[in-house]
Amino acid sequence: MRINHSSGSYEIYFLPVAIPNGIVITDENVFQTYSSLLEGRKTIILAPGEQTKSLESYGKLCQQLVQAGANRKSTLIAFGGGVIGDLVGFTAATYMRGVPYIQIPTTLLAQVDSSVGGKTGIDLPEGKNLVGSFHPPTEVQIDTSLLHSLPIREFRSGLAEVLKTAIIRSPKLAESFRLQPLVPGDSRIQAIVQECIGIKAQVVQEDEFETLGIRAELNFGHTIGHALEQITRYSKYTHGEAIAIGMAIETKLAVKLGLADKGLIESVEFLMTGHGLPIKAVELNEAKTIVDVMRKDKKSTDGQLSMSLVKSIGNCQLVQNINEEVVKEVLHESAKI
Ligand SMILES: NC(=O)c1ccc[n+]([C@@H]2O[C@H](COP(=O)([O-])OP(=O)(O)OC[C@H]3O[C@@H](n4cnc5c(N)ncnc54)[C@H](O)[C@@H]3O)[C@@H](O)[C@H]2O)c1
Ligand SMILES: [Zn+2]
Repeated sequence: MRINHSSGSYEIYFLPVAIPNGIVITDENVFQTYSSLLEGRKTIILAPGEQTKSLESYGKLCQQLVQAGANRKSTLIAFGGGVIGDLVGFTAATYMRGVPYIQIPTTLLAQVDSSVGGKTGIDLPEGKNLVGSFHPPTEVQIDTSLLHSLPIREFRSGLAEVLKTAIIRSPKLAESFRLQPLVPGDSRIQAIVQECIGIKAQVVQEDEFETLGIRAELNFGHTIGHALEQITRYSKYTHGEAIAIGMAIETKLAVKLGLADKGLIESVEFLMTGHGLPIKAVELNEAKTIVDVMRKDKKSTDGQLSMSLVKSIGNCQLVQNINEEVVKEVLHESAKI
């Protein structure tokens, strides 16, 4: 599969992984499981988890690259989940004013979503992905056999992005997941990863820099999800869990705003719970704090709330100037249940 972007194109290979030449950046868990693939490679190993997508580890990684002798012609290899992909991508965008990088995603989330599209970034204590850049990889290698070692919680986290993709763009996929939830080792995984990446590829090619409201669709569930991640300091929920809750609440909001039928709430909740994902959180009680964080979301302008809301399965739209009081009401109501 080939992806075109403003400054070129890159290929996504669906093949058994072969680590290319370059400086590999990975995390401790991936290194422990796949060290045999990395023999003889210059490897930098980082701590696992969302906390690694920070200014501090970005600075440290840049210094480690200098120590490893990385120069303008070096290729960085992001071998890990979305955290490694986003951090390495951002580092590649800025190290020596930009070096190439290759994505070898090892989580379901990264294979269906984050490894493609060129969005890179790190979090700030004030909010998710607030520092970043568009810097497409030069190649992506997707090997679904790497998913066998994934803990169930991380598998489910990836399912949240799979479900998001289905809900915003594919009624057919959503229906298949309603009839038969996806489980680890499912024979449909390879085909579904390809289908989700195909949808993401189409969206990012239509709106590479998220200026037309099309790419923003991929943010369904993310405005509330990111706020939840931030107020719990990126440590309580996985990204997928947070956006599953976000999708459930944003659907209730769409209904409250008269954009969607009530039945959509049940459909979305059924998909989440059927895949072992949460749909509520005690923190929803902190409506004011959540809304304050949402105002800092990149889609918001002049402190106005904007969100990608689903009107029906397969039909998502960026909605601007959402009434803050209605959002708070929905958050409060959802916290009570
Ligand atoms: N750039 C984008 O377009 C984009 C899109 C979606 C999500 N994201 C970002 O992705 C991040 C989440 O990514 P993630 O869920 O992959 O998290 P992650 O990278 O933290 O990986 C999750 C956990 O799984 C472990 N792991 C990774 N691969 C493994 C394997 N094959 N076997 C066993 N353990 C393995 C990791 O060590 C980690 O503990 C978030 O920061 C989110 O913002 C970015
Ligand atoms: Zn996401």
